[in-house]
Amino acid sequence: MTKWAPDSWRARPVVQQPVYPDAITLSRVEEQLAGFPPLVFAGEARLLKARLADVAAGKSFLLQGGDCAESFAEFRADNIRDTFRVLLQMAVVLTFAGSCHVVKIGRMAGQFAKPRSDANETQNGVELPSYRGDIVNGIDFSAEARRPDPNRLLTAYSQAAATLNLLRAFAQGGYADLNRVHRWNLGFVERSPAGERYRDLADRIAEALAFMEASGLTGATTPAVNRTEFYTSHEALLLFFEQAMTRVDSTSGDCYDTSAHMVWIGDRTRQIDGAHVEFARGIANPLGVKIGPSMPVPDLLKLIDVLNPANEPGRLTLIARMGSDKIGDKLPPLIRALKREGRAVVWSCDPMHGNTIKSSTGYKTRPFDRILSEVRRFFEIHQTEGTHAGGIHVEMTGQDVTECLGGAQEITESGLADRYHTHCDPRLNASQSLELAFLIAAALRKQKNGQAAQLAAAS
Ligand code: PEP
Ligand code: CO
Repeated sequence: MTKWAPDSWRARPVVQQPVYPDAITLSRVEEQLAGFPPLVFAGEARLLKARLADVAAGKSFLLQGGDCAESFAEFRADNIRDTFRVLLQMAVVLTFAGSCHVVKIGRMAGQFAKPRSDANETQNGVELPSYRGDIVNGIDFSAEARRPDPNRLLTAYSQAAATLNLLRAFAQGGYADLNRVHRWNLGFVERSPAGERYRDLADRIAEALAFMEASGLTGATTPAVNRTEFYTSHEALLLFFEQAMTRVDSTSGDCYDTSAHMVWIGDRTRQIDGAHVEFARGIANPLGVKIGPSMPVPDLLKLIDVLNPANEPGRLTLIARMGSDKIGDKLPPLIRALKREGRAVVWSCDPMHGNTIKSSTGYKTRPFDRILSEVRRFFEIHQTEGTHAGGIHVEMTGQDVTECLGGAQEITESGLADRYHTHCDPRLNASQSLELAFLIAAALRKQKNGQAAQLAAAS
């Protein structure tokens, strides 16, 4: 294998990158970013890797979620808080109802770049470059907005920094205190069936906390009571940005992409000889790879050889996004091959990207039933194969949007128009997210009981 460097991807075939008309400004921006402070520290990325190694070993569960695409226009403290709050609610449901430790990672503080099926978009006979996320160009259909602008990398950096700063404050500064568990259930969610179930669960947690406090276990003695670990992630798509954020860690001498704790390679950019795989193989962060239905077993094994040659647990999370109709055929052979070859990976399920359809009213949407069905199948398959269903990867928001069909609010095709706000793919709203968390909690309990039964039988 050739020698890796932060810029060795440039010698490889690269897909899904914008063509910048202004190359001089691009180099100036890259240089500027390379001098900026890191957004995350190498030690934090290492800690996340250790947490993910626990997931790979079947000891905990990964919850990863957030926007499909963060936008500059919707950059507000309320939006960040609401997504964080719903992730906390989901985590508490999984921990309490599923009796499972949860590793929390946001698709937040950097999820700006989007792969597109077509480089250009045509409207009324006018052809313009496709929208590639706010870090690249603007969503409006005008030549001005769609021109890739390198200065957007700087805006993305500062928005990511401010978002991360707020997330750190929420996670460590009291908002995530388990004693506030009732208060995370706000607004429209409170009145939904999942919100009611959540309230019952919060009552039981409050009881447990009162008991713990009476026994001397409080936030002062047990920090896990009033603070939480929260990590960030995004698709490492725009390689100019990711390279500029890559630094040598003085402790280990390894290179880390300091734009997020974890980054992943998308389903459209996972070519073994391509630029994205080349970039990712040399950074020491925990990595994700999206695995769609077109992934053959031998290709996956080769990809793992390149991305995790030392078979280090926690290094690699495989995010399967097959679709509810394909997961039954496509996932088992991959799981079996990795089990046979002894590859340590986290298996996570993205039930969003394989279940996207166009509604009769013209919206890109996802039927909630299909999302639930893919998640159920994911757990059943792992149970059959004797492997650990390790995590879930969802596009969600804390807002009361109407982007995915169904759920307890029974969002219909005509209802999609009410509050359809996403900049890219349709997201679960807060109540749908919570409903999904209850389903996963039940599946986790079943998985746990199965493991306990296996242990008892073996002893
Ligand atoms: C995404 O996660 O938004 C995405 C584009 O996914 P995939 O690479 O799986 O299509
Ligand atoms: Co998406």
